[in-house]
Amino acid sequence: MKECVFIDGVRTPNGRAHAEKGWFRNLRPDDLLGEVYKALFARNPKVAPEDVDALFVGCANPSGMQNDIGRLAWLAHGYPESVASNTITNQCPSGMAATIHAARAIMTGEADIMIAAGAEDMQKVPMAANMDFPPQLFNRYNPMEIPMGSTAEKVAETYKVAREDMDNMAIWSHKKASEARNAGKFKGEIVPVMGVDDEGKEFLVDRDQWVRDKMDPEKMASMQSPFKPGGVVTAATSSPLTQGACALLMMSREKADELGLSYSYRYKMGSFGACDPTLMGIGPIVAVNKIFEKTGLKGEDMAAVELNEAFASQALACIRELKLDKDNAPFDRVNLWGGALALGHPLGESGARIIITLLNVLKNEKPEGKYGLASLCGGFGNTAAILVEKVD
Ligand SMILES: CC(C)(COP(=O)(O)OP(=O)(O)OC[C@H]1O[C@@H](n2cnc3c(N)ncnc32)[C@H](O)[C@@H]1OP(=O)(O)O)[C@@H](O)C(=O)NCCC(=O)NCCS
Repeated sequence: MKECVFIDGVRTPNGRAHAEKGWFRNLRPDDLLGEVYKALFARNPKVAPEDVDALFVGCANPSGMQNDIGRLAWLAHGYPESVASNTITNQCPSGMAATIHAARAIMTGEADIMIAAGAEDMQKVPMAANMDFPPQLFNRYNPMEIPMGSTAEKVAETYKVAREDMDNMAIWSHKKASEARNAGKFKGEIVPVMGVDDEGKEFLVDRDQWVRDKMDPEKMASMQSPFKPGGVVTAATSSPLTQGACALLMMSREKADELGLSYSYRYKMGSFGACDPTLMGIGPIVAVNKIFEKTGLKGEDMAAVELNEAFASQALACIRELKLDKDNAPFDRVNLWGGALALGHPLGESGARIIITLLNVLKNEKPEGKYGLASLCGGFGNTAAILVEKVD
């Protein structure tokens, strides 16, 4: 097997998927993807677009403006027709699936240079847009338990995650994201993109829209669940509707050396898993345990972990079951620059975005650390995880 190394990773800021307030409301998701393609090649002039073997692009809802978005954004932005692409979907883990498949293509020797990306605009293509469920599905599952918010409520109940712990996690996530943003830590991964403010005035967006510098615990404690009467999951403890795109440049170690490129981390292992769709948030327990069982590693062996915060309830249940960190925030290795509760979660993009952030967190916060882990849950019980290792 060849070694697959990570050369670079870029992302747009995450904008709110909101028709009047979203900073990127006038852009299409393919525009956002075009911006990250452009930035990746501008930052890596030794890599010619025509030398890329293929690009794999994760997208949870590949319909409308997102239909075959990987290929169409590539062509629309003037890149060579000869480069193959696959738009990949398995709900939220789509961007991670793209990365795992790209790594496997490199490791088997089928490819030398790959781009793994993700894109989603939850305003232009809303969650479950154009869905037509197979009727038999609802002989097996209660249709009321399939929507994402309902699964978050069920995880909170099943895994006994308290409302206060979820609120505490959201406060911590915004605090860490705000600190990282204000210290310029995302500068290495964010590509500034022109957007519009509330009044429609153009400005260069270089930060994530949702992150709050100040939280209001009293307001949070008074918020009601939009998902279940008397429920415990609120807008503050849910990831917001988001738009964003990102891309990773990956190579065989030989190719990177041949081009004289530097790298610090390699892909060690990836896993796909699956669980009960009505408890979809616990997916990372399955996907991460597969990696732990195969490698003999444990949570405490990880220098840093990026665990996507689709909802605070599921993130806490996973952290606790997998013993990734303490039972409650503040954490020592999980989501050190904040998570999706603050940064946002553009569904199919996030799986690749958390790998980009993981690599930057490792490099900046834990340069001596050997292993990093990223994982996320996804609709209908899809899940994936990835283990990266420092290169000797
Ligand atoms: C939870 C959800 C329904 C909220 O949608 P929404 O009502 O449009 O969200 P808003 O942005 O208007 O927020 C609702 C309110 O909560 C408030 N709020 C949100 N986060 C807050 C926080 N951290 N602190 C205080 N108030 C907060 C907002 O300010 C707003 O209050 P306002 O109406 O007084 O301005 C939506 O974000 C959602 O569906 N999230 C989950 C997405 C999902 O399922 N992803 C897939 C995961 S697998």
